[in-house]
Amino acid sequence: MTSHAEPDHPDIEKILITHEEIQARLAVLGEEISQHYRGEEVVTAAVLKGAFIVLADFARNLSIDTVFDFMAVSSYGASTKSSGVVRILKDLDTDIEGRHLLIVEDIIDSGLTLSYLLKNLRARKPASIEIMSLLVKPDQLQVELPVRWTGFEVPNEFVVGYGLDYAEKYRTLPYIGTLKPEVYA
Ligand code: IMP
Ligand code: MG
Repeated sequence: MTSHAEPDHPDIEKILITHEEIQARLAVLGEEISQHYRGEEVVTAAVLKGAFIVLADFARNLSIDTVFDFMAVSSYGASTKSSGVVRILKDLDTDIEGRHLLIVEDIIDSGLTLSYLLKNLRARKPASIEIMSLLVKPDQLQVELPVRWTGFEVPNEFVVGYGLDYAEKYRTLPYIGTLKPEVYA
């Protein structure tokens, strides 16, 4: 995971995970997850907005039939800490009762957002719920979360790029990087 690539954006301090490393990992996960669900009816749901880029690249590595759907929850806004208060801004369009639900996330930090979502989704009686998250910050987890597939573990630092934002910026960077401290100030 160490990379010597130079960031091409003045606000980025360092690149933690390169575009190539992300693509390689998504190919492995796509293969593994396709095997897991072979022959099943699967709904793949991404949590907006951050996961839209992860989903787009991940989806192209899937070799199963799946329906795609999206949920949106309230974000931190221009803060870098989870409030623990989650609001569903956009719900799934699909009825998941009796179907396998695969949740695709960009990053799990405290886990509070997903923990809340899981409670809500379990009440709809899907056949199963699994979580795939590109990134996890293992030191930060405040709740027990059944994350079945993980792309990379990242240190307890705020990261941006590859769909992840700070105040809605930096989502289009093709890598995962950290911000220079002065950017928060
Ligand atoms: P949690 O509830 O603390 O697990 O945070 C979940 C959500 O917060 C993620 O889906 C992201 O949208 C956002 N988030 C958490 N950590 C970061 C980060 O380091 N960079 C950008 N967004 C983050
Ligand atoms: Mg998110």
